[in-house]
Amino acid sequence: MFFASDNGGPAAPEVMAAMMHANEGTAMPYGADPIMDRVRAQIREVFEAPEAEVYLVATGTAANSLALATMVQPWQTIYCHRLAHIEEDECGAPEFYTGGSKLTLLEGPSAKIDPESLRQAIDYTARAGVHNVQKGVLSITNATETGTIYTPAEVAELTAIAKDSGIPAHMDGARFANALVRLGCTPAELTWEAGIEALSLGGTKNGLVGVEAVVLFNPNRAWEFELRRKRGGHLFSKHRFLSAQMEAYLTDGLWLKLARKANAAADRLAKGILNVPGASLMHAVEANAIFASWPRKGHRAAQAAEAKYYHWPFDQSLEGPDDEMISARLVCNWATSDAEVDQFLQLIS
Ligand SMILES: Cc1ncc(COP(=O)(O)O)c(C=O)c1O
Repeated sequence: MFFASDNGGPAAPEVMAAMMHANEGTAMPYGADPIMDRVRAQIREVFEAPEAEVYLVATGTAANSLALATMVQPWQTIYCHRLAHIEEDECGAPEFYTGGSKLTLLEGPSAKIDPESLRQAIDYTARAGVHNVQKGVLSITNATETGTIYTPAEVAELTAIAKDSGIPAHMDGARFANALVRLGCTPAELTWEAGIEALSLGGTKNGLVGVEAVVLFNPNRAWEFELRRKRGGHLFSKHRFLSAQMEAYLTDGLWLKLARKANAAADRLAKGILNVPGASLMHAVEANAIFASWPRKGHRAAQAAEAKYYHWPFDQSLEGPDDEMISARLVCNWATSDAEVDQFLQLIS
């Protein structure tokens, strides 16, 4: 029973097979491998964006930080939600790679930016001219850090506010596939058609060993991105193994199949949790993460059986009254089985 993180899930067999296949013979290094040519073509086709430039890195932090660095000057600010991964979980990498850009934190329920909060923050920026940081870039996470999703219309509303002030928009899509399959829209509708200029397209949480693509819908930033990736130590010499993973991921809709499985497991888990007397959800379950609370005695039983997940916030104790509510974060991955979910539900009921 593993619900600690989708990062803990296995890589998909198709991906492992593709890496084995890529291991045959030799290939040009540093992204000049023929598989990367195919990946570039696949992403351009999937996103209906023939001009897009595509690069691979091995972590989401690198994808976000390097993409943002091409979109902002050190004296400009990055607008993001208070709970954004770039704010909470990247150890200052965006600030480091941008040469010190400040993050301006925005409000909104369930980790979704409230358009009014963005409007106000933009209006407030550079109020004293040279004494303040200047308007830089908007960064939106989809699916969000609390497992909710933005629709294309919601993305477009935010990017339009940014665009009115001359600000480009980035999307942290570490769980882009989870959002996409839930919405049933096209990748284009959720990104460039909704005003997104750069996308960090996640793979690692959804069945890859470790690959994220940076998709630059505005190719003007491409050469700078390449230089920053190399200088930042994220240009892989044995790049073909990254390419092979991404190719397998996008072939025959594997990325969508895997995301549907993770979302379905989360739905099953959330439905079951809500049957536990007193239990409630802290956020809508729209992707593969669940934030919920249920009585302490259920947590004791689950953890005694070695179920893995995080208390959310972390500092809640198993010591205390049986019926007191303890909140938790549970994340499903593509390989989470119905049996695993049902065993967990039985323990907490
Ligand atoms: C929303 C979000 N963005 C980006 C990342 C990528 O992080 P990492 O650098 O660990 O691959 C994560 C991983 O947890 C995430 O949840």
